[in-house]
Amino acid sequence: MTQDTWNPDQYEKFKRERYQPAYDLMDLLEPKAGMKVIDLGCGTGELTAELHRRLEGARTTGIDLSPAMLEKAVAYEEPGLDFRLGNIAEFGLSNTFDLIFTNAALQWVPDHPNLFARLYDSLKAGGQLAVQVPNNFDHPSQTVAVEMRVRSPYSEFLPAKAAGAVWEAEEYVVLLHKFGFRRINVGTQVYLHLLESRDAVVEWVKGTMLTDYQKALPADLYERFLGEYRESLRESLEDLRPYPFTFKRILMHAVRA
Ligand SMILES: C[S@@+](CC[C@H](N)C(=O)[O-])C[C@H]1O[C@@H](n2cnc3c(N)ncnc32)[C@H](O)[C@@H]1O
Repeated sequence: MTQDTWNPDQYEKFKRERYQPAYDLMDLLEPKAGMKVIDLGCGTGELTAELHRRLEGARTTGIDLSPAMLEKAVAYEEPGLDFRLGNIAEFGLSNTFDLIFTNAALQWVPDHPNLFARLYDSLKAGGQLAVQVPNNFDHPSQTVAVEMRVRSPYSEFLPAKAAGAVWEAEEYVVLLHKFGFRRINVGTQVYLHLLESRDAVVEWVKGTMLTDYQKALPADLYERFLGEYRESLRESLEDLRPYPFTFKRILMHAVRA
């Protein structure tokens, strides 16, 4: 297995802010009795447990690729709720689920047409798909890192293009329509996260996007990257306290015909 750079403590530093989009996604769901549910990229499992609690009587499974995240998740296990190691890129079980829920995880999985085809096929007729993906790629927190990764010495370890696959909201509408989903509801929401200062943006990004950078770079070079990244961000972000970190996210809900 490749190095696991997901760190639940780092991720949970901004727990309240990171969880709000998941609650908004849960608000889009249409609860039914006895649903069979899967949460793809369940992370620390806390949101999976909340989902399970809201959908009383559900049979819920969370899957994640990170042993460190899953170690936290298993603490939430109870009858009807379990967690497993699994790769979304290999996920697909024909005609099985009443709900596929996935919050802030599909951005790590390439080839969304192929992925969404498998998601569609894995739902029962009338099953629901609920997806939240970040779409903040034009924010300096992302563009500065992307500009740096193509420069030496980082370019020697990092591919020029980051892994990731998020499309625009309207492209998801067409994709979902082509697969035969109905009652398609896709929207972009801009969240405002008030962070202590602009330097806290680095702490935020360390818990998610930079996990890939940490995986690819030798430890000393990753530390150097962080220092330069922090300096570059200071030049790009206004010095406001608290710092208003804006974050665009796409929320989707659709029903299999
Ligand atoms: C940003 S966290 C979101 C976790 C959780 N859904 C939440 O909202 O708190 C992304 C999670 O996706 C997982 N992940 C990334 N790529 C994955 C893959 N290919 N298969 C399964 N899990 C994956 C990571 O290990 C991480 O736990």
